Amino acid sequence: MIEVRAFESSDARKVVSWIDDFEALIMWSGNSGFTWPFEAGQLADFHASDPGRRLHVATDPDGTPVGHFMLRTDPSGRSVRLGMVVVSPAARGQGYGEAMVEAALGRAFADPAVEGVDLGVYSRNTGAMRLYERFGFRRERTEPKATLVAGEWWPSITMSLRRDAWGATERLRRGRPEA
Ligand SMILES: CC(C)(COP(=O)(O)OP(=O)(O)OC[C@H]1O[C@@H](n2cnc3c(N)ncnc32)[C@H](O)[C@@H]1OP(=O)(O)O)[C@@H](O)C(=O)NCCC(=O)NCCS
Repeated sequence: MIEVRAFESSDARKVVSWIDDFEALIMWSGNSGFTWPFEAGQLADFHASDPGRRLHVATDPDGTPVGHFMLRTDPSGRSVRLGMVVVSPAARGQGYGEAMVEAALGRAFADPAVEGVDLGVYSRNTGAMRLYERFGFRRERTEPKATLVAGEWWPSITMSLRRDAWGATERLRRGRPEA
């Protein structure tokens, strides 16, 4: 359904066009430091400034970009952070997000040293949380004052997925619960 490839600077304009307003920017990128108006140069600089940020673009079968995510391995090499997950507004609700998270986890766990994947999600983002829970992510802890947006604190939740839990949901998803 989707192909995943490394982000290139020329993708920045497209990805930026999927972020409609400041609240959407925060919802997507948390405390990454982006500012509104969000411009392609910010994302290209973010990408170029740290090779540890492995940005990816998901494309549909005709090569049109439909989504974006980032993987970042922590210094221990045992944990990967999944972040900056977004599907283009026009493509939402058609399974791209699920396919993209599946591809992201496949990439993260392809490294046998990786024991778990974690992510941060704002508590108001219930749709995204449901999507992550479907893969076996569990809520670990809440930060009540994660980000101040228009005078209101947005709580964030750290979710994590251990390799064994991922393996179990993968087998279920592939219809091989006994494998
Ligand atoms: C979250 C997001 C990536 C999901 O992408 P998507 O392509 O719409 O997701 P899918 O079509 O694969 O849906 C998979 C499941 O996700 C859940 N879901 C995702 N977004 C949802 C929403 N806005 N409302 C309700 N459920 C949602 C549902 O459980 C859905 O299952 P269903 O098919 O039974 O309805 C997309 O809504 C998005 O880009 N949101 C803005 C950016 C963002 O919030 N990113 C997450 C940061 S942590």
